[in-house]
Amino acid sequence: MVDVVLGLQWGDEGKGKIVDVLTPKYDVVARFQGGPNAGHSLEFGGNKYVLNTIPSGIFHEHCINIIGNGVVVDPVQLKKEIEKASATGVNIKKSLYISEKAHVILPTHRLVDAASEAHKGEHKVGSTLRGISPAYQDKIGRSGMRIGDLLSAGFMQKYQGTVAIHRKLLDSLNYEYNLADHEAAFFEAVEFLKQFKIINSEYFINDLISKGKKVLAEGAQGTLLDIDFGSYPFVTSSNTITGGACSGLGIAPQKIEKVFGIFKAYATRVGNGPFPSEQDNATGEKIRTLGHEFGATTGRPRRTGWLDLPTLRYAIMLNGVSDLICTKSDVLSGFEEVLVCDAYKINGQLSKEIPFNMQDGILEPQYKTFKGWDGNLSVMRQYSELPETFRNYMDFVQGEIGVPINVISVGPDREETIIR
Ligand code: IMP
Repeated sequence: MVDVVLGLQWGDEGKGKIVDVLTPKYDVVARFQGGPNAGHSLEFGGNKYVLNTIPSGIFHEHCINIIGNGVVVDPVQLKKEIEKASATGVNIKKSLYISEKAHVILPTHRLVDAASEAHKGEHKVGSTLRGISPAYQDKIGRSGMRIGDLLSAGFMQKYQGTVAIHRKLLDSLNYEYNLADHEAAFFEAVEFLKQFKIINSEYFINDLISKGKKVLAEGAQGTLLDIDFGSYPFVTSSNTITGGACSGLGIAPQKIEKVFGIFKAYATRVGNGPFPSEQDNATGEKIRTLGHEFGATTGRPRRTGWLDLPTLRYAIMLNGVSDLICTKSDVLSGFEEVLVCDAYKINGQLSKEIPFNMQDGILEPQYKTFKGWDGNLSVMRQYSELPETFRNYMDFVQGEIGVPINVISVGPDREETIIR
């Protein structure tokens, strides 16, 4: 069977760590969407690792790691990642499998991403500039290149044809670039990737499932960045919800058993777009500093705010979450008061639902205030050890959303985890 782990907010919920903690129970970890816009951080043995495309099960020797068909792969980024992970002693050749149907991010996709963001000016999405949106646009436009194409005799011809279209677009946007600089690294990375297992991953994964192997599907970004249900157009270009695991890996919906939904004890967002409970003030600054809220991929400071229950309920509904995991619980220690947005007032009316356009009209978050807590939560390993005020906060959240919070992460290391 397949379990899914995914983020319930705007990404950066700490998925990498949680996948790493859960991996011992699974035979396979598979990424199903997104690409190197993700930055999944893992810490163990005093070291920190950031993965962008490689699934977060890679540091467990027994684990098969699949980059699914729904992912967009930048060969240059993936080569760098493989080299870094290999330097730690991991046998990537043995444990990494790449779907031949995954689409390829070309150097021109990155250029088009930069050019179109620059063209949008103040209306830009705040993309990670990793070429994600242009690569998915070509996929949907039926002109993309897939990993399997890298192995075909017609590769260069197809590549030149696609690049010619991108060049026209770049010229029309008056974007200056030097493609030759990027192409050398791209072709080198393409050759490099050919030594890894490029497979028909939908047969491979279904075969493993039929043999009784346990699969963990690893989501990237977060539900509120989903192309259909996120705060459009300030979203990423893939389905980040549970349904994305079916199309992004080729598994049938009835194979999915548990859905682990991860949320931070507060909220963050990187890039532009609505964020109702944002604290663009000293409180937000304090959360950012204590939570080290700077992008793992881009280093950008993240916007910070209080936990938002209407969006959390929405995410739980869309994903069919069976188990909740709260991360970064240690960060709010020392705050006199902790607030939770329980509902919105939209044009004078109370609502617990997400409106069509979060950015339209006046959306006023309605807060409940909780007494804060003190102490170093990261040394605690039992739920009962946690401060009573923190447990009151968790009980309220759990009561409001009706799904058990089974895991509480109290720090970035594998060990800093409380299982209830
Ligand atoms: P893109 O996916 O790079 O096109 O970026 C679209 C939006 O999603 C931007 O607001 C990014 O900041 C945001 N985003 C993309 N990937 C991540 C992620 O892994 N964590 C958090 N935000 C992300």
